[in-house]
Amino acid sequence: MALRRVPRAFFQYADHGSYTQSTLRANRAGLDAVRFRQRVGIDVGTRELSTTIAGEPASLPLVLAPVGLCGMQFGDGEILACRAAQAAGIPFCLSTMSICSIEDVAAAVREPFWFQLYLMRDRGFVRDLLGRVVAARCSALVITLDLNVLGQRHCDIKNGMSVPPRITLANLANITARPAWALSILRGRRKTFGNLAGHIPDAGNLRSVAQWTAAQFDPTLNWADIEWIRDLWPGRIILKGILDPEDARIAARMGVSAIVVSNHGGRQLDGAPSAISALPAVADEVGSDIEIMFDSGIRSGQDVLRALALGARSCMIGRAYLYGLGAGGQRGVAKAIKIIRNELDVSMALTGITSVAAAGPQILAAGNGIEAPHRFP
Ligand code: FNR
Repeated sequence: MALRRVPRAFFQYADHGSYTQSTLRANRAGLDAVRFRQRVGIDVGTRELSTTIAGEPASLPLVLAPVGLCGMQFGDGEILACRAAQAAGIPFCLSTMSICSIEDVAAAVREPFWFQLYLMRDRGFVRDLLGRVVAARCSALVITLDLNVLGQRHCDIKNGMSVPPRITLANLANITARPAWALSILRGRRKTFGNLAGHIPDAGNLRSVAQWTAAQFDPTLNWADIEWIRDLWPGRIILKGILDPEDARIAARMGVSAIVVSNHGGRQLDGAPSAISALPAVADEVGSDIEIMFDSGIRSGQDVLRALALGARSCMIGRAYLYGLGAGGQRGVAKAIKIIRNELDVSMALTGITSVAAAGPQILAAGNGIEAPHRFP
């Protein structure tokens, strides 16, 4: 439905990966290859899906991942997705590159939400931004480490992706064929990057997303910056975009609340292994020292259970909720969450477990292609 309702440039921005998209495909293939052990004769009459995520109670082990331009899939998309997440009892994480600003979302929802930080070259801007995150009472800060430079997504170049959309003949034809989308965007609070507009000088002159990123993102990002950020942000920190056990070990020593094993949904290093195949080694390395979250490729409750069985405590979803948002706004996101919840619940029952905490390598079939962690967290 999202494919039909959202203009091509924005649908493909969400849907595609970087370069040859080999890592994007590997993420799905890797998850598909993980087989469950079907168990019978176990009383699974009562099942517990609730958990805590980085210390926060959640009704299921799921978080709506930070996604740039969420509000271009559907007008006010960040607010609608946040409301759907909060109604379902799970965290929503707002991206630095959102359309609705931190203040827009804070004013429109009841509970605290998470904020994701991209480190910009302009440290004065980052300092101010973190002040805004504190003022909005966000409950966790997710620092993304795997986008210090931008992996090229061919479709964005081909589509002339820009925010707000550039009015070319092709774009115009595509947009006029999607009147419901156009109306939702027109009614939305903002048409450009809400957290940046008015806060970074010359922001308006750099319209293409690639130009933006190249100009503002900081390739010098390193572990010392995490210490600097910690001095400005008193709350929980989650480090996102870790794939390698050695990096996980360094991250675990930083005293943060959790790490996210992720390859950015196959949007950055093309040729990186699938995130699910990287998870067991990270769990082996740091699973007993730090909470592990997982994303990249999750499309179902079965996928969530696969990641839990291989060492994650919770999962983030990006595209799985963006498709729902594009298809039907808040109701679409609510439906995506509900589908995943039901799939997780049924799959737990059929693998013979009654709580998400019980998911471990014992629910996986032998020889499923990915070796389970030896030292389970
Ligand atoms: C992202 N992702 C992302 N991550 C981040 O830290 N900040 C961001 O602004 C974005 N922007 C973004 C836009 C879009 C359209 C997508 C699809 C993804 C990555 C995101 O948080 C998450 O890691 C992936 O989406 C996980 O993969 P799946 O669930 O989409 O397969």
